[in-house]
Amino acid sequence: MSDTERPLDRQTALITGGAGGLGSRVAATLAERGVKVVLADLNSHALERASEVLRKEVPTGTFVGVQIDVTDSSAVRTAVEATVADHGSLDILVTSHGFPKDGRLLEMSDDAWSDVVNVCLTGTFVCVREAARPMVEQSYGRIITVASRAWHGNPGQANYSAAKAGVIGLTRSVAKELGRYSITANSIAPGLIETPSLRNLERFEQIAERARKDNSIKRLGEPNDVAAAVRYLASPDAGFVTGEVLHVSGGRFG
Ligand SMILES: NC(=O)c1ccc[n+]([C@@H]2O[C@H](COP(=O)([O-])OP(=O)(O)OC[C@H]3O[C@@H](n4cnc5c(N)ncnc54)[C@H](O)[C@@H]3O)[C@@H](O)[C@H]2O)c1
Repeated sequence: MSDTERPLDRQTALITGGAGGLGSRVAATLAERGVKVVLADLNSHALERASEVLRKEVPTGTFVGVQIDVTDSSAVRTAVEATVADHGSLDILVTSHGFPKDGRLLEMSDDAWSDVVNVCLTGTFVCVREAARPMVEQSYGRIITVASRAWHGNPGQANYSAAKAGVIGLTRSVAKELGRYSITANSIAPGLIETPSLRNLERFEQIAERARKDNSIKRLGEPNDVAAAVRYLASPDAGFVTGEVLHVSGGRFG
């Protein structure tokens, strides 16, 4: 099936970390274009809140919340199967789950390493693998993984940087492997984007000031900046774009 035969208003998206700052903004943007949205997140209260806000913001939208841990393969598989059963297809996967657990290398515990790698990298692998099953069957899919500019390496973020670099390697491999099924796979590498979880960090002002200084565009990113990049990669216009890393970082990369 070609891209033009599958308009956005007949598509369904699964967004992991869908209750989060970026995930819920992506959900609104896709829903405004008619995409049915399944929000998957570990945090059930945040899911309820996000769904409520989204239904008010985009009254024409379809939003379904599903509570899952992305590292739980069978839960992810069930969520994918339920999405296809309820909505007819799964066309777009956006992986926007995850968190940093920063620390200098010499003080970084095994747990801080494995927590971040398990959720950010292994969780993305599980979601991509499970979502790819129906996409291969229908010969269509858009896989969009949210990495980070930290994939280039960042002091104090050995775990997070390694996981996000892994997400990019995973995505580019999938792009090469599944292109024959008209499935594209691309990563978005945001710089500092002002989401509520970021604003809650004790060091937020310090981090923000540094980003404003180092960005070539002198502001912080907004969730809409990332949502617009997702909208493009999910659109028919991006049908020949795969294996790319789209930095949404105001010129702060590397
Ligand atoms: N905000 C930024 O500046 C920024 C920059 C670069 C990359 N990112 C990446 O973008 C993504 C979204 O970030 P955000 O700012 O929206 O953060 P956020 O904390 O608002 O959202 C992340 C969501 O992931 C969910 N989550 C965590 N562990 C999970 C698990 N095991 N299973 C399912 N869901 C889980 C959380 O409940 C949360 O709702 C993350 O991958 C983050 O690393 C964010």
